[in-house]
Amino acid sequence: MKKITRYSVAKAGIFFTASVFLPMNGTAAALRNSANSSGISATFGDIDRRNDFFNEFGGNGRTCLSCHRPGEGWSITPQGMRKRFDRSDGTDPAFRPNDGSNSPDADVSTVDARRLAYSALLNKGLIRIGLPIPASAEFTLTEADDPYGFVSKDAANPDLSLFRRPLPAANLKFASSVMWDGRESPPTFSIREGLGNQANSANTQHAQGAELTAAQRQSIVDFELSLFASQISVRDSDVSIPLGKAASPKILAEQRFSLGINPPFLAGRANSAFDNQVFKLFDRWSGRPDRSGSDRRAAIARGQQIFNTRTFVIKGVAGLNDSALFGKPEQLTGTCGTCHNTPNVGNSSSALFMNTGVSDADRRTGDLPLYTLTNKTTGESIQTTDPGRAMVTGLWKDIGCFKVPALRGLAARPPYFHNGSRSEIPDVVDFYETRFGLGLNNRERLDLISFLRAL
Ligand code: HEC
Ligand code: HEC
Repeated sequence: MKKITRYSVAKAGIFFTASVFLPMNGTAAALRNSANSSGISATFGDIDRRNDFFNEFGGNGRTCLSCHRPGEGWSITPQGMRKRFDRSDGTDPAFRPNDGSNSPDADVSTVDARRLAYSALLNKGLIRIGLPIPASAEFTLTEADDPYGFVSKDAANPDLSLFRRPLPAANLKFASSVMWDGRESPPTFSIREGLGNQANSANTQHAQGAELTAAQRQSIVDFELSLFASQISVRDSDVSIPLGKAASPKILAEQRFSLGINPPFLAGRANSAFDNQVFKLFDRWSGRPDRSGSDRRAAIARGQQIFNTRTFVIKGVAGLNDSALFGKPEQLTGTCGTCHNTPNVGNSSSALFMNTGVSDADRRTGDLPLYTLTNKTTGESIQTTDPGRAMVTGLWKDIGCFKVPALRGLAARPPYFHNGSRSEIPDVVDFYETRFGLGLNNRERLDLISFLRAL
């Protein structure tokens, strides 16, 4: 990949994710926004392709672009990975055994072997993050059921294989923590420092390259912080609906943010300043059928209202129901915005990590390892496919906790959740229906889906 050709559009600085990428050999390969089954998404930002984000530092051929692509919501999609695999017979730099394959020991000698070796990447866009359990952890690993036989082999000194989705390298102005488990943003670090460290670890680990200089880190972080990505139109049958200025990435860039800007609870008490209208992108469409007579726009506005105001009971969520910040409520009545509260973005505006059950043993699929962790003090055991935040803090209570991710540009980057376990947006909504009993009727379910597709 060499060159991003900019399509000139109405406003300078907006790049359709359908931008054309010219590979090294010079043949133009259009990277259309086909991965975005909902319509078109766009990035607003200072995309200087000379930036170190696009550079290789003497490693395994990878750059940041290997796993963070504008046409795939600044993450990667299985569809995009399969195309790259087919084009290169599985030799594109994304396919490297250090963390692209299911196991570093996998046979990658033939195309067929590679198709197997990289199945988690091809099927769900998952990268294998290898992390040790912190020495001071309150728990030990007592069993590792790794379908790829890697972790189980060295049970005495295990590096857990954690299969995770690349988080978008855009909309980072709103980040309250870096990585699914926050490991690159310890409390003493600013987000900017965290991102600098993150860029360095990405380059030394994913790309197996050299340490980055302070200047290189800074230039990558400046670049990332300048990127704003969102959906700009949705397609429904043959009709394309522009989402308008309020939803554009340019306006997103102007959205105000500071850490903890909109927390629902402060020191255990409901925050009277909490604005439950977390998203205000489609207010003007509420109740108004569009000109064609259909109510597609109104449906998006209704979905926004459901996100903002539909209440349900939240219980059994570690990181919330056991958190002093929320007053340790055994259960509380909340909305999607109780957790996804950053205005018009939807991540948690505070650095919180929560367990909604995504890595629970009973949701385990055969492509993920299952770990049994035992509490050193109580002897109690828990099974999980990914201990999440507990791999950073070593705390028993943090097992299965992950950050509450931002929601803009969602449609461009399926599948969802840290382990890609939900392939499309409707699957995410169905997860929440089962987990929290939202009680949505069929129309409300479709409205919420229409809204999430339009972010
Ligand atoms: C091999 C694939 C791969 C490569 C190459 C890669 N990343 Fe990532 N990136 C990931 C994965 C996977 C995660 C999530 C890991 C986790 O949370 O444990 C991630 C997370 C991130 C995040 C965190 C975003 C957030 O919201 O917390 C940033 C920022 C990021 N990457 C930037 C970069 C940069 C900059 C580079 C190049 C120096 C890079 N990445 C190279 C796969 C990759
Ligand atoms: C109790 C807190 C909480 C509530 C309530 C909540 N979420 Fe989430 N949400 C999370 C966490 C934590 C994650 C990450 C989970 C993971 O990957 O393990 C997440 C992930 C998501 C994702 C996936 C994003 C991605 O990039 O993969 C979507 C979409 C989402 N939530 C939408 C919603 C909607 C819609 C509602 C309301 C019906 C809702 N959430 C309610 C905490 C919450």
